[in-house]
Amino acid sequence: MRLPFSFACSLVMFSLIIVSCFSLTAVAGDIATGKSIYDRFCTYCHGSKGEGDGPAGSLSGVATGDLSNKAYMSKLSDQELYDRIAWGQEKFPYLQMPGWRSSLKETEIRAIMSYVRSLAVDKGPLTIPSPQQREKKFSADPLERGRLHYLHYCSGCHGASGDGDGDGAKNMAVKPTALSDPAVAATITTASVNEYLTTEKGLTEARNMPVFEDDFKDKINDIVIYIKTLEKK
Ligand code: HEC
Ligand code: HEC
Repeated sequence: MRLPFSFACSLVMFSLIIVSCFSLTAVAGDIATGKSIYDRFCTYCHGSKGEGDGPAGSLSGVATGDLSNKAYMSKLSDQELYDRIAWGQEKFPYLQMPGWRSSLKETEIRAIMSYVRSLAVDKGPLTIPSPQQREKKFSADPLERGRLHYLHYCSGCHGASGDGDGDGAKNMAVKPTALSDPAVAATITTASVNEYLTTEKGLTEARNMPVFEDDFKDKINDIVIYIKTLEKK
């Protein structure tokens, strides 16, 4: 049977409208679901508009990313964005953020993604390195790895500049050593830090410094390279 052209046409139009209505509600629903999950799990670091200004945004020592920067975020395909949220630093160590795959289902992460994409604001062309460039730099450059690991694991006590004045040190009875002090800096080597950070030998009864796990050893060399750059000349 052949349908008159205009009838066939309106059938097609009608089904298109139905389809687009459905997908619109699906996306809108996703954004609303995504917002409520985002508000619970992400806002306290990334901020309600994704700008990285949440109250705990500085907790990890490195600045929390701006998820609303359209030029930056558009460098990430949906799969790339999904993988970064799901795996975090485990697969993408240039990001000092744990992954969310054990706390959130795939559908929840995808809903958050719809919401995050909806936060995009055009802030002009990209003036910072893209996610891919950052990932490359991290794997190629020991100083960059040391910088991020120092900020993440050490700066909370030893301070961003190594002066021993991190936020976490305020109420400590024993002040964290000022690693930027030339007299201290002169004694710092990979071996000494390794011993101090990961073995019982560094432990004293008065010690306030945490013990780091054995798998931390591969980070120490890079951290020491970075600490050396903090020395006040
Ligand atoms: C404890 C703080 C914290 C929380 C909570 C948090 N993040 Fe992050 N997030 C970070 C930090 C720190 C980075 C790294 C920023 C950077 O290096 O640019 C980051 C980076 C990201 C990136 C950037 C990827 C890239 O390649 O630049 C995405 C996407 C992201 N977070 C999504 C989320 C989502 C979604 C949630 C909630 C499920 C969340 N984050 C919760 C701290 C946090
Ligand atoms: C929870 C706070 C805290 C964190 C986090 C921390 N430190 Fe310390 N650190 C201290 C304190 C306090 C001391 C002073 C001695 C003591 O009480 O153990 C110290 C001492 C040191 C010393 C000894 C210097 C010397 O020879 O006297 C080194 C080296 C050091 N820290 C490196 C690091 C590095 C590297 C990191 C990150 C991987 C780090 N610390 C993370 C609190 C901290």
